[in-house]
Amino acid sequence: MIQHVTIVGGGMITHDQILPSLLQLQRLGAVGEIAVCARHGRTVRELADNEQIRRAFPHGHWRGYPDTAANADRPQPELYKEVVAGMPPRNVVVIALPDQAHFEAVMAALAANQHVICVKPLVLTAAHAATIEAEASRRQLFVGIEYHKRFDDRSLMARQRYRARSFGEFRLGTAVLMEKWYYRHSRFQDWFTVENTDAFTYIGCHYVDLVAFITGLEPARVSVYGIRDRLPNGREGWLWTDARVIWTNGACLNVQNSLSFPDAAPGSNTQGLTMYCSGNDRGGLLRHSDQYRGLEYVYTEPATYAEPSPDYFQYVHLGGEGLTPVGYGFRSIEALLRACMRVETAADRGAELRAIDEEGVLATPANSRYNERVIEAARKSILNAGAEVAV
Ligand SMILES: NC(=O)c1ccc[n+]([C@@H]2O[C@H](COP(=O)([O-])OP(=O)(O)OC[C@H]3O[C@@H](n4cnc5c(N)ncnc54)[C@H](O)[C@@H]3O)[C@@H](O)[C@H]2O)c1
Repeated sequence: MIQHVTIVGGGMITHDQILPSLLQLQRLGAVGEIAVCARHGRTVRELADNEQIRRAFPHGHWRGYPDTAANADRPQPELYKEVVAGMPPRNVVVIALPDQAHFEAVMAALAANQHVICVKPLVLTAAHAATIEAEASRRQLFVGIEYHKRFDDRSLMARQRYRARSFGEFRLGTAVLMEKWYYRHSRFQDWFTVENTDAFTYIGCHYVDLVAFITGLEPARVSVYGIRDRLPNGREGWLWTDARVIWTNGACLNVQNSLSFPDAAPGSNTQGLTMYCSGNDRGGLLRHSDQYRGLEYVYTEPATYAEPSPDYFQYVHLGGEGLTPVGYGFRSIEALLRACMRVETAADRGAELRAIDEEGVLATPANSRYNERVIEAARKSILNAGAEVAV
């Protein structure tokens, strides 16, 4: 059991996946106290008032910082450091902050002797990832990156079969992940701007990680063509990208990303992966439709056609109190938390950490550095009109 878990950041991913997953682990007896540290008291209050979470976990308990009663609107960006520093050592901190804040927060958690689970991407440069790796290793702490697509059973099946050489060798592929148009009207417009990020860096990294996860290949070169577009607040973002990733065996993956999927379209996005392979004088093929999971629902109130995914994160009633979160969003958090326990209870923590790195099922700074390298190269490329950059 992990006695204390602190989530830093109370935004979308904390609401949609992380907090409910940890409340379920608390229900199962794997987690004791949970804290959520946001920047504003109002964020804590919104989470605490959330009907769905309350209904799912009528007896779930977590503590929020800052205090919601006082100064709900006063930003307290440094508060998490105090909260984390006050935790008993060798517990777990989950970082769910905007990308550019990850490095400082991960280092603060390590300095407080805490294991770390960080949402993707770990950090934005390979040098920062190396610093984290060295510090975690010195303290024998686990750092895991939450690439939850890895825990979609289809990814694990593909990995197993690819590595058993059932598909042959990857040659050409296409990955697509388009988020809905309305993202432009959300908080995204405050930070999804040309100087911070682009559609490939923010969204495309999922499929780069997945192709590496499935095949064991690493990206070698990348070029990213981006189209600048205006956000509703007038700022500019690279809202459409087309990336070409060349892999160590010469294979080529085309990755298209944008904030463009029509709001009226079914599902919360469109996404999928196709890989063409060759082996034994035959063609191999792997094709995943990652948003159409075979369900077609037409609701009467309101009248809508929907294609919900049963696989990422759903609440279902399995009997007993409340609702149970199911799906790879939950399994990913569970696997990362169990890795922290595995390290904590190991006779030889260093050996356990090395074993987790080598297994490669969970993304760690040591075994997924290609992700930071790709981000660095991609940013150089997009700022140079799509020139090819070595990873
Ligand atoms: N599919 C995925 O893996 C996936 C999906 C969504 C988001 N993410 C990642 O999760 C992270 C957060 O994304 P989000 O969508 O939840 O964003 P968000 O903007 O909804 O939430 C971020 C939260 O962090 C808070 N915050 C900022 N600075 C803080 C500070 N100093 N102290 C405490 N809180 C602070 C903000 O107030 C906000 O509530 C990003 O790194 C993103 O890339 C991953």
